[in-house]
Amino acid sequence: MAMSHVLPQNWIVTDGRASVGGVDLAALAERFGTPVFVIDVAHVRQRLTAFSDAVGSLGPPAYAAKAFLCIAMAELVSEADWWIDVVSVGEAEAAERGGIASDRIMLHGNLKTAQELELVLSGRVGRLVIDSLDELARLDRLASERGVDVDVLIRLNEDVDLATHPKVLTSGQEAKFGLVGDQAAEAAALLAGSERLRWRGVHLHVGSQAADPELFAIVLERLVDFVERHRAAFSGDEVILDIGGGMAAPYLRDDPVLHPADLGARLHMAATSLRIEERIGPFRLIIEPGRAVIANAGVTLYEVGVRKPLPSGGELVAVDGGMTDNPRPALYGSRYEVLAVTRMDDPHDHPVRLFGRMCETDVLAESIGIPEDLSVGDIVAFAATGAYTYSMSSRYNLLRRPPVIFVEDGVARQVVRRESIDDLFSGDSGLTGAEVWQYDPTGSNRAEGY
Ligand code: LLP
Repeated sequence: MAMSHVLPQNWIVTDGRASVGGVDLAALAERFGTPVFVIDVAHVRQRLTAFSDAVGSLGPPAYAAKAFLCIAMAELVSEADWWIDVVSVGEAEAAERGGIASDRIMLHGNLKTAQELELVLSGRVGRLVIDSLDELARLDRLASERGVDVDVLIRLNEDVDLATHPKVLTSGQEAKFGLVGDQAAEAAALLAGSERLRWRGVHLHVGSQAADPELFAIVLERLVDFVERHRAAFSGDEVILDIGGGMAAPYLRDDPVLHPADLGARLHMAATSLRIEERIGPFRLIIEPGRAVIANAGVTLYEVGVRKPLPSGGELVAVDGGMTDNPRPALYGSRYEVLAVTRMDDPHDHPVRLFGRMCETDVLAESIGIPEDLSVGDIVAFAATGAYTYSMSSRYNLLRRPPVIFVEDGVARQVVRRESIDDLFSGDSGLTGAEVWQYDPTGSNRAEGY
């Protein structure tokens, strides 16, 4: 497979210098500093359109916010008429601020806090995906107390074979998500008898990096089988069949690629061959891609700060970011293509180990090739860092989170600025400014707002 699958669609090299969306990357790094997340906006729009077109009348798709979300991203999702799936009050807030209507927001999560349940009870979020019988009972009680109706889906947990990293496998025997066989059937029965919870659909997300459309056809079949067995318990005409996300995105040039059109064609075929309409009546099929929308639209730029020999032989390069802006190599052993943005015409064949700058052995890339004469001060780009980097970033070592820059048609928009030193201390009051709580054995100690 070609490198172009890994890179943003509007990555262009001119005289050895790389640009994205018409903006020279080294110049962008100079203007906004490093590390910096750069997003090719036209690429994102194209991916959103490609998935919409692929599912067509079965759709619309729902974007998995956890992959990457800021208000600007929510605006793109809203413009594309997608739904969105969120897992926290913060993600719901970003979706709202981006203009996504409540009936297009779905709440996921294996443990939803009281504040998160409040999102559906108050109508800020249109649907909740039930993940356990405990949650079902709690929500049912709260909805009755409040006298409000809540639309819910049941998340199933089924064994569907997907070879992936165990930490991102979200279905099967070891998974913490969803309801297995008997429990799912019990949930259906409980919903049939509930006064306030309206059963609208089913959901199954099997895990990450599925490149074969066949897998999603299997998931769809499992959902239809389940619904058929419990059709009488449904409220409303239309059943939501939500087959989750996990559509693969290529990180390395040889990684497999899942084309939205192929996925769409397979799903349309399955909808016909499974005779869904005949078996369960009107339905809406939801796919929830996150990574496949945003991963390849993004690159992270770093400045090279150190180049020196390794005691064990070989050579190391250190850049000015690391596991704070991209924990994936440390967590999952993830690998990336690394490119020297002002030396694109030079062979990237000098082997080095690439480290970040955190206070530990934070290898960002185990063994990569760089141009022989890459120097301190040069800018390198990590490709395919649009997903699960910014959203998983931390402030370890009290580093400030990098900015997010949207580039399009030669214009760079800083949609999230770099955190300031004041941001770091906005909730840190010191001893004298601290909120003081005196335990009162007779009074209520319940906290508000968590
Ligand atoms: N829907 C549900 C219910 C999910 O749990 C997920 C991801 C998605 C959709 C989106 O999956 P995607 O299309 O982005 O693969 N931190 C890990 C990924 C964890 C994903 C968990 N769930 C990583 O960096 O690879």
